[in-house]
Amino acid sequence: MTDISRTTRTVSEEELAEQRAYTAKIAGWNEAFLAENGRERRYYIQTFGCQQNEADSERLAGMAEAMGYVPVDTAADADLILINTCAVREHAEERALSITGQFKHLKERNPELIIGICGCMVSQETRKERIKHSYPYVSILFGTSMLYRLPQILYAYIAGRKRQFFLDAGDPGCIAEGIPVRRADARKAWVSIMYGCNNFCSYCIVPYVRGRERSRRLHAILEEIRGLIANGYREITLLGQNVNSWGHDLDEGVEFPDLLAAICALEGDFRVHFMTSHPKDASHRLIDVMAENEKAAKHFHLPMQSGSNRVLAAMNRRYTAESYLNILAYMRQRMPDITVTSDIIVGFPGESEEDFEKTLEAVRIARCDQLFTFIYSPRTGTPAARMEQLPEKVKQDRMARLLAVQNEIMLEKNLACVGKEYMILVEGLSRGDRTMYAGRTDGGKLVHFPADPDQSLTGRVIPVRITAAETYNLWGEAVL
Ligand code: 5AD
Ligand code: SF4
Repeated sequence: MTDISRTTRTVSEEELAEQRAYTAKIAGWNEAFLAENGRERRYYIQTFGCQQNEADSERLAGMAEAMGYVPVDTAADADLILINTCAVREHAEERALSITGQFKHLKERNPELIIGICGCMVSQETRKERIKHSYPYVSILFGTSMLYRLPQILYAYIAGRKRQFFLDAGDPGCIAEGIPVRRADARKAWVSIMYGCNNFCSYCIVPYVRGRERSRRLHAILEEIRGLIANGYREITLLGQNVNSWGHDLDEGVEFPDLLAAICALEGDFRVHFMTSHPKDASHRLIDVMAENEKAAKHFHLPMQSGSNRVLAAMNRRYTAESYLNILAYMRQRMPDITVTSDIIVGFPGESEEDFEKTLEAVRIARCDQLFTFIYSPRTGTPAARMEQLPEKVKQDRMARLLAVQNEIMLEKNLACVGKEYMILVEGLSRGDRTMYAGRTDGGKLVHFPADPDQSLTGRVIPVRITAAETYNLWGEAVL
């Protein structure tokens, strides 16, 4: 049954039941394997890319466990390997292909091993064909909109021993509720609230590989979050390529600020984050809801991409540097301590020295707490890939200059934190120094402070006073 009251296809109960039936069949085989071999079958997932992919991998893991597989830390010990790929930049694709190549010898050693590949990279027809021909040891491939059909695809391969390549090119995507999830963290949880993107920024492959925007229903999201809070989750991050347009495809008359307010009204001790927002739709109302709700983390990730209006127009971003900076000003007026992070692309086709200087100027005015900086990477099939490209050297130089400007800002901002107190979610011991805890502020700043011998603070949210700062790290002491 298709949900006809909205534009988005919801996977029907019958289809989900079908997947559960395949899950049960595979679980039966895996039980028989255990009885015969005295060990369970094991799965290993390698994830590339963004938080959406991490959330998808948690669903892949959930489905694998429902099918009777148990997790394993090294690919060499696995019976099932799933590679969840990213396509946003060339580098991510190269890494995924290289890792896939490295798994070849595992298959040679163990012909029973099943290697599967999924995610954004393989959702491009050309990549699918390349994998089909050049990676014969990859047994299953499925696009992002096919994720919930893993049990069926795996079953078809195991039962028929024929490679299964499932890519529904041009599929606008669907929503599948009720897929099992195995969360990687006990305190922080990803909650996808929508999938896909309708924006078609001219450099970006995402709309082509993740389909059209589709929102999960309000009640389904609230139910999931209630469950998470009941299970001790402290940090909920709402995920979507463009969370501000959540709800536009629903018939519920609700928008993202309403969703955020409804989540903040839930009982419990938690904070809610969200990402990513598009500046063209980041409304005052959303900022007001954040400012008025203590449970809304005071962190805003708002990608600027460029400070030149000419480049922003060529990127099809539909806002100006001025309107971007105005949103930031309003945010800081309503929430003076808010942490703001942003994405910048350098070396977009046609970016002149003057355009780039405008970006540096906007970065200096924005004074973000952190920037994620990217060298433009042409993506086949996107309009920007067909434009005239800049020389590599120009791109590299601009990246270095941008980083120098941002590092200066970050150091100044971190030094200004010294003497102040922040609520920190303690993540565990510092990687570099096992006598110290590492934790993060609401805005994601990394803070180190002395650990107690029994490490009882891991997973807790506690006040820490900052005593020292560097560009990327803060140090402090717990105020207990
Ligand atoms: N090249 C470089 N960076 C890109 N991004 C998206 N597409 C590209 C590309 N083709 C960056 C944008 C986006 C972030 C997730 O990745 O800055 O916000
Ligand atoms: Fe890509 Fe733009 Fe959509 Fe973000 S909003 S996923 S950058 S097309």
